[in-house]
Amino acid sequence: MSGDRIILGTAKIGMPSYGFSSESNHVSYYDLFCKASELGVLTLDTSPRYGNAEELIGAYHKKNDRKFLISTKVDNLIPNDKDSESAIFNSVKNSINKAGVSHIEELYLHQNEMGIISDSKIISSLLKLKNIGMVKKIGVSIYNYEECKFSLESDVYDMVQIPINIMDTNIYSRLVKNNTFSTKEIIARSVFLQGIMFNSKKANNKVSHIEEIDEYMVSMKLLSKKYKIDLPSLAFAFAYNMPSVSKVIVGTSSTDNLDKIIKSTKIQLPSLLISNIRIMSDEYKVWGNPRNW
Ligand SMILES: NC(=O)c1ccc[n+]([C@@H]2O[C@H](COP(=O)([O-])OP(=O)(O)OC[C@H]3O[C@@H](n4cnc5c(N)ncnc54)[C@H](OP(=O)(O)O)[C@@H]3O)[C@@H](O)[C@H]2O)c1
Repeated sequence: MSGDRIILGTAKIGMPSYGFSSESNHVSYYDLFCKASELGVLTLDTSPRYGNAEELIGAYHKKNDRKFLISTKVDNLIPNDKDSESAIFNSVKNSINKAGVSHIEELYLHQNEMGIISDSKIISSLLKLKNIGMVKKIGVSIYNYEECKFSLESDVYDMVQIPINIMDTNIYSRLVKNNTFSTKEIIARSVFLQGIMFNSKKANNKVSHIEEIDEYMVSMKLLSKKYKIDLPSLAFAFAYNMPSVSKVIVGTSSTDNLDKIIKSTKIQLPSLLISNIRIMSDEYKVWGNPRNW
């Protein structure tokens, strides 16, 4: 099914002001999840940090026999803490109960710092949860080169979540593209950079570097026009078809935009278009990371 490599993000479901939305019609969490299921989306990405998103997933599951696979996170860990094991266990147990599932399919550390992702107490606790079947796979969501290199080289992590989008393929191009880490699943996130690439007017007073972002997008709009592919479809297809990417996380609370995303899974971008984008996206940009806005 075309949605099976798509993971639907729920940050905006639990925190409605998250990101920069389109003018499209936004639906309730329930209608969105029904549509996602109908389109073949198998996995929801959530976190205890995303407001009541896990509870809303649980509410959906109560009314539907077909359950989503759940990708969630564990947060607020402290390096070298003797209590990490119980903190992680309790967090995962809570997530399972709230989301109404038998286990967590994918568990990420929500903190990306080296002190957390390389902490031996945290790592052994994660492995224990995997051994007892509470969690199937464990992963990290990284923000820089060093974190990515460590995660890819580690024997522990099954999945590495990386920002990959038409504005930023810097980490991908430096570390992932040659795919010498074929045992890892590479998950693309921020494929629309929180929506700022299409809806930047909503960001004017909130985001520094907005001029650079808008200027960059002028080039993308020209490419979109030249190749006659609308910008959201181009942006999605670019990340989705990146050779080493296993799955793509997308955020939307519009069934129309979700439909469009699923349709874009069929798009093959011309290789010249991809090269033109990569010349620009491979370069490091301080504004590629929303934490620097
Ligand atoms: N692990 C981590 O540290 C981490 C960090 C960030 C995010 N995430 C996960 O990733 C998910 C996605 O977050 P993200 O920051 O990466 O967001 P994103 O997917 O890059 O962008 C989402 C935004 O794009 C807009 N959008 C989607 N389709 C569009 C279209 N066709 N036209 C115009 N706008 C469109 C959405 O607005 P509409 O609702 O109007 O469609 C939404 O505001 C989150 O929900 C979360 O689950 C994880």
